[in-house]
Amino acid sequence: MKCRKCKAQAAVALPSHNTAFCPDCYLLFFRSQVERTLHKQRMAKAGSPILVALSGGKDSLALALQLHELGYAVHGLHVDLAIPDYSALAKQFCEKFCSTINVPLTIIELREEGLAIPLIKSRIKRPICSVCGKLKRYFFNKFAVENNFPVLATGHNLDDEVSRLFANTIRWDASYLSDQGPVLPAEAGFARKIKPLYRLSEFEIANFCFLKNLEHVTAACPYSPKASFPVYKSLWNKLEERMPGAKIQFYENFLRDGRPVFAAWAEQQTDLEPCPGCGYPTSSGLCGVCRIRKMVGAGVNGPGVSDLDSKQAG
Ligand code: AMP
Ligand code: FES
Ligand code: ZN
Repeated sequence: MKCRKCKAQAAVALPSHNTAFCPDCYLLFFRSQVERTLHKQRMAKAGSPILVALSGGKDSLALALQLHELGYAVHGLHVDLAIPDYSALAKQFCEKFCSTINVPLTIIELREEGLAIPLIKSRIKRPICSVCGKLKRYFFNKFAVENNFPVLATGHNLDDEVSRLFANTIRWDASYLSDQGPVLPAEAGFARKIKPLYRLSEFEIANFCFLKNLEHVTAACPYSPKASFPVYKSLWNKLEERMPGAKIQFYENFLRDGRPVFAAWAEQQTDLEPCPGCGYPTSSGLCGVCRIRKMVGAGVNGPGVSDLDSKQAG
């Protein structure tokens, strides 16, 4: 197969785009896809600071590298989850990456917050992945708001977004369906959030990392095997094989036709109020993170909710 652009021997075939590229033209294709998404969705001003949440995995490191090469002022943010045989390596990849391309990196240690994931897992009988996701989003947002970043970017790719949309649709979860999308505008207490890789598949990002020699974590989180997303991802990959372009069509059509309906519904729901614990917006009483703090902080290992409240308020 020949490269669509330069007619050299192709190295990467992309059935959903009905095309193939040689290594150099593939990297140009990738760059232009990210650039187009940033402009079309008005995600960030050219050259502006962007806080990039770095997990140490391929997606977020690829995102940070591409944004850096496009001239944005990238600042990395890593949340160390303190999961044995996993988190130390993830942190090392982030540190090595940021020092190689010379961008600043901030690390938030959940252990220092009294919120190490293994501790929470042993104390709370809820699926640990959703608790972990809630904590990560909370700390990304808090750091972005407190440090005045105009925008916070995550490495969510097309496969992540389609599986999340599928999961929300299976449950017809109107609240989640009302604000799933590649751009979430800033609101009181919430930073602007963007997902510049939302049109690129895992396969496309893996090819970028391979061609750029980008070292990243490959091991899956030891707590994730029970999560439902891998099941949805493999279902959608089967569908995509039979119907190239199905993923992007499902997602883009939702953004165009579905999301506005759910967003209008959400407008009529109860307003958010500041959490009495930490001050960040929540729909009722203590926010989810303060409730987690209260459940795990009662006693062992780390501050209780009242200690943390005063620390944050100050
Ligand atoms: P995941 O939910 O693990 O698929 O991750 C989605 C995105 O969230 C990643 O692409 C990163 O941008 C961000 N992310 C996930 N885990 C972390 C972490 N421990 N620290 C910083 N960012 C993270
Ligand atoms: Fe959070 Fe696995 S990454 S539980
Ligand atoms: Zn709170």
